[in-house]
Amino acid sequence: MRNFDEDNITQAVLDSLGGCATPRTRQISEALVRHLHAFVKEIEPSEAEWAAAIAFLTRTGQMCSDTRQEFILLSDTLGVSMLVDAINHRFDEDTTQTTVLGPFYVEEAEHFPIGAHISRKSDGLALLVEGTIEDSRGNPIAGALIETWHADDRGFYDVQRDTGKSALDMRARFRTDQAGHFWYRSVVPAAYPIPNDGPVGEMLDAQGRHPFRPAHVHFKLSAPGFETIVTHVFIDDDPYLDSDVVFGVKDALITKLSRIEGCASPGGHEVEPGTSLIAYRFVLPDKTRN
Ligand code: BEZ
Ligand code: FE
Repeated sequence: MRNFDEDNITQAVLDSLGGCATPRTRQISEALVRHLHAFVKEIEPSEAEWAAAIAFLTRTGQMCSDTRQEFILLSDTLGVSMLVDAINHRFDEDTTQTTVLGPFYVEEAEHFPIGAHISRKSDGLALLVEGTIEDSRGNPIAGALIETWHADDRGFYDVQRDTGKSALDMRARFRTDQAGHFWYRSVVPAAYPIPNDGPVGEMLDAQGRHPFRPAHVHFKLSAPGFETIVTHVFIDDDPYLDSDVVFGVKDALITKLSRIEGCASPGGHEVEPGTSLIAYRFVLPDKTRN
């Protein structure tokens, strides 16, 4: 193997992959080489441009820490996270649509009783979230696990304001009651810019893009016998709904933020008059895989 040029090097690299550990490793390696070589042949980078590309990826890795995942941001802002999500969640249209997990999910959030107030430190407008979890035949799913998290009224997640377990705020776990219901109190989240003080921010600037996500509340929903759903509920009228920097918005996930005028919500929960309400019915798909 020698004398490589731009016409024969792609095939030479493909031919070197016969010893891959598994057929899947070979398939992925071959596709990587084919697409990467095609990309380079299309853009014909100067050596300075290729060095800049490698420096960009190096800075992306160096920016990562326990609380900052720049590679997830890169995947999100290039639409790759939503593409992977779509490929892996080809569920019926009548089940709840999925969207990106994002970098602010924390596995060990505290378990709260239904109805709890989950915002300890935040100011902001009072919010009541009322949810129902059903199967695709309309039966309530009792005991489903709800993991929920959202930004504060200034657009910051707890982990951006502070570090450590005691910093956890505006995130919680609940279980649905026998009727498949859950509800909790918090503050209305704001739209926010994704962290843009690193390489991904530089990329967005260079591409003439803003870094904002429309206001939303995150949910991860799971129950035995059902597919786990990772999703958000977006608040209508947000100026960024049509230009979400991570391409995560779906019409079916947008809901009206209504104002409760009296002392009780439509679901019968006691609130301060003027509390904002997000109400959403989630439908979990039956499990299709082991
Ligand atoms: C989020 O919604 O938390 C998020 C998603 C993708 C990138 C940054 C933040
Ligand atoms: Fe978010």
